[in-house]
Amino acid sequence: MENHSLLSFTVALLGFLSPCLTRLTPRVSFPLGSPGRHLTHFSSHDVSNTTTLLLSEDGDMLYVGARDAVLALDVGQKDAIVLRSKLDWSPSEKDLEQCSMKGKKMADCPNFIRVLQFLNATHIYACGTFAFSPRCTYINSETLTMNLKPDEGRGRCPYDPYQRNTAIIVDGELYTGTVADYRGNRPVISRHLSEGRRVDLKLDDTLGWLEDPTFISSSFIPDEEKIYFFFSEVGREYDFIDKFIVSRVSQICMSDVGGQRTLQRRWTTFAKAQLLCQADNELPYNVIQDIDTLPPADGAPADHTLFYGIFTSQWSVNSGRSAVCSFRLADIKSVFSGNYKVLNRDTLQWSTRVQEKVANPGECGLHNASDNALRFVKENFLADDSVRPVGRSLTMVSAEHNYSHLTVQRVQAANNRHYTVLFLLTESGHMHKTVLLQSGAHIIEEVQVFEQPQPIKSMKLSISKGLIYVGTSEGVVRVPSRQLLLLLDLPSVRSGSRPLLRLGSCQQGVCGGLQQPDQSMTATDSKFYFPLLSGQDIDRGNVEEACNSVSLTHRARFGLNTLPAGELVSVSLNEVVWLQCPAASRLSQQLWERPNSRLSPDLYLHLEDGSLSFVATPTTLGHYICLSTENGYQQTIAIYHVKQKSSPVAHTPTSNTWPQTHPVPTTKAAARPGTGRGLHTSVRA
Ligand SMILES: *[C@@H]1O[C@H](CO)[C@@H](O)[C@H](O)[C@H]1NC(C)=O
Ligand SMILES: *[C@@H]1O[C@H](CO)[C@@H](O)[C@H](O)[C@H]1NC(C)=O
Ligand SMILES: *[C@@H]1O[C@H](CO)[C@@H](O)[C@H](O)[C@H]1NC(C)=O
Ligand SMILES: *[C@@H]1O[C@H](CO)[C@@H](O)[C@H](O)[C@H]1NC(C)=O
Repeated sequence: MENHSLLSFTVALLGFLSPCLTRLTPRVSFPLGSPGRHLTHFSSHDVSNTTTLLLSEDGDMLYVGARDAVLALDVGQKDAIVLRSKLDWSPSEKDLEQCSMKGKKMADCPNFIRVLQFLNATHIYACGTFAFSPRCTYINSETLTMNLKPDEGRGRCPYDPYQRNTAIIVDGELYTGTVADYRGNRPVISRHLSEGRRVDLKLDDTLGWLEDPTFISSSFIPDEEKIYFFFSEVGREYDFIDKFIVSRVSQICMSDVGGQRTLQRRWTTFAKAQLLCQADNELPYNVIQDIDTLPPADGAPADHTLFYGIFTSQWSVNSGRSAVCSFRLADIKSVFSGNYKVLNRDTLQWSTRVQEKVANPGECGLHNASDNALRFVKENFLADDSVRPVGRSLTMVSAEHNYSHLTVQRVQAANNRHYTVLFLLTESGHMHKTVLLQSGAHIIEEVQVFEQPQPIKSMKLSISKGLIYVGTSEGVVRVPSRQLLLLLDLPSVRSGSRPLLRLGSCQQGVCGGLQQPDQSMTATDSKFYFPLLSGQDIDRGNVEEACNSVSLTHRARFGLNTLPAGELVSVSLNEVVWLQCPAASRLSQQLWERPNSRLSPDLYLHLEDGSLSFVATPTTLGHYICLSTENGYQQTIAIYHVKQKSSPVAHTPTSNTWPQTHPVPTTKAAARPGTGRGLHTSVRA
């Protein structure tokens, strides 16, 4: 039942597709409320701006920084997100009054929680904008109560709730990137909550350390004992373009305690470099929007850590487009260990000055280097080289979608290989589940997450639970991530010693199959994949089951035994027959076949929607098979048996073929839209 309704859902949607399809078109699309793509929402009339998310390690509790409140949401239940407790934390009337007297809009004066991090086993550290006078506090994660005396939040949290910031706590110390003043023009990367011999650190006021940045994210790499910050800023080294935005990665060492005389209480290990998301001979996608870290596979060195980022362009020629680039930690490290540019303080021009290297900027342990060395690192913090993306190319580009957020995950397929999957959120409120194959990015499916487009503020992936949480101004949505995919090579799918599949119609080494509820499949390279219901489904049993259904279908198609009955279509002679064939996906093309017979264009009309029309005559009675072709792979979509109406025949649908479709025999004259156009198989591309 469900499969049919889902299929018709998909088919219905296909009718509205734009004719301009690129390789990056999602194969299938699930509108809001589609069965099998169950979303769970949380919102409440007295809660808004639920934009900062923090997931407990076991994935059962989601802490949410909202407006004037911190929430603990129980997300351990399958069908609901339940509010466990709520901590109110709002500015006083007096604070609000002062905020609005300073000329701020009342709507921006509440306490927007913008930092929410686990401090230790019992406490969360939280900071909010607090009427343009940021504050921080310790919150007991069990009872959701806070200590009475809040900390000053300067340098830890923005004043202005519309400014982006980043914060991460490692070993009880808070590392932040934010603006540290009321006007919003003193950006700083700093460390707080340091104790004992360790001191709080910040950037020196040296010209050029940060140039009007927008902070995006920060990432802790344990093996390096470094924190990396990602942001965009004005690229003053490009003085030929006014306000050219560049994306940056910067680093600091956790062991840093500042210099003894020079750079006291300042970073001695700060260095920054340009992240270049650019294809040869094209304008760069220069503005980073979001970035996520993909840790190396088990056993692989930390250098294999990857960062996947979304980039947009500052130029209108690329407006509305976005690109994904990935960067390897090893490449970032190599740029930071190379040469550095130098700023001429008189002309304010950057240059690559070949000079004696007194120190290696960015190297950990510089805090007790000589004053001379520290003066050198104070001047040499912008790496000369740019960090180029993996493979020196873009991971993907979307001409149609402005992606704003992403998270990345590595999944293991039945063949034990690992594949990278990106979950990309579009500005229009859709999630694109995308697998990265050798041949390129492939959007497996699109799931509508929001009815109305709305700015997404944060996204958290719960790998263990197979769920993604999306925070917006209006609530939290949980999206299943596990309807993933499974990729396999033909030789790995065996039943005993005999390959289950040997499909003459497939490309060499390719076989295909699928699991519900997604009634489709595809093939790329020598692999193909099927959407899965859950992580547990990635096992041999299900693979074989899925492949079994494929081989059955194909056996049927090639008449290895007898042709299955197919859907019976009873017609009278001279009646116009119309056989439907829904597209398996947006990337597929439909093709009709008859056993031992050619479909002459004189007799058959191939309609644009993939259906077939003809007049019932003694020669046109018989079996019809609709095949769908996608990336060179074919699958059977429908089998019909057109028979002359005579004695009443039992209507027996075939049992082991899938996508079953309902034939729509028609007695109407061929007056359907599309009739008369294109006598050959219509091409969806
Ligand atoms: C966690 O930090 C808080 C605040 O500093 C402190 O009161 C508490 O004792 C700490 N808990 C543990 C388990 O260390
Ligand atoms: C694309 O999205 C980004 C981030 O949400 C936004 O700043 C930008 O204005 C958008 N661009 C277009 C052309 O919609
Ligand atoms: C450098 O500083 C560390 C403390 O961070 C100290 O243990 C070490 O002895 C210092 N090294 C030198 C050469 O002074
Ligand atoms: C808070 O949410 C409202 C919508 O509920 C939105 O209009 C406003 O921009 C949000 N404020 C901030 C600071 O994000």
